[in-house]
Amino acid sequence: MEAAERKKLIELTGATKIFGKGELENTVLNGVNLTIYEGDFLMIVGKSGSGKTTLMNTIGFLDRLTTGTYSFLGDDVSQLNENKKSDIRNQYFGFIFQQFFLIDSLNVAQNVELPLVYGGKLNKRERLSASEKYLGLVGIPEKVKAKTKELSGGQQQRVAIARALINEPLLIMADEPTGALDSETGNGVMELLKELNKQGKTIIMVTHDEDLLQYATRVIRMHDGSFVEEGAAG
Ligand SMILES: Nc1ncnc2c1ncn2[C@@H]1O[C@H](COP(=O)(O)OP(=O)(O)OP(=O)(O)O)[C@@H](O)[C@H]1O
Ligand SMILES: [Mg+2]
Repeated sequence: MEAAERKKLIELTGATKIFGKGELENTVLNGVNLTIYEGDFLMIVGKSGSGKTTLMNTIGFLDRLTTGTYSFLGDDVSQLNENKKSDIRNQYFGFIFQQFFLIDSLNVAQNVELPLVYGGKLNKRERLSASEKYLGLVGIPEKVKAKTKELSGGQQQRVAIARALINEPLLIMADEPTGALDSETGNGVMELLKELNKQGKTIIMVTHDEDLLQYATRVIRMHDGSFVEEGAAG
């Protein structure tokens, strides 16, 4: 499909992010323009410190822009207060991180259903059944009652992916999701993300690993606070 026909989810215009003041001032995003369309599997690459996580965090409402506009589903969201932003985050975003961030005192199903607990719409039995569904989808249905510490790294990341999916988010945000995994396990996680993207899920992912760019439908390379978009294989 041509990009022009696809739904625009996000549009950043003249986006800047400046950390610090005076001598310590550090411009990390320098007038970035970026449009994200439904169905994109967008990968962000670039050297350490080039601003990949900063860009992801501003898109995911974990951090705010210094200047510039942010349009989300057609609405200007650059000036929203923290409550409104966290509502949007909970409703529309699913996050996956390098270090999984599972809660060890909860079992696997309890971790997966956390976003539903915050959402407050489903009862306990419905939440468990949703957990089971998404653990099945990520390929570890037998781990429902397991302790997180008894899982391999790849299994833990699958739990984190199930947790990111359970709210049926519009966008998946993944910052180095394979960074803590060996390459074979990482490829398994990438295949899963690719399958989710084929089913229509929009994914934004940060990686250091050039070998993973093959999974993307779009690649942007960050450098000195801005980026260039490259052709992508996917
Ligand atoms: N909260 C913060 N306060 C001040 N400076 C910050 C903050 N977060 C990031 N920075 C600075 O912004 C720059 C970009 O950081 P960022 O984490 O976005 O890089 P990155 O591309 O994700 O790097 P890596 O590949 O190492 O994860 C760095 O110079 C960093 O020191
Ligand atoms: Mg980073």
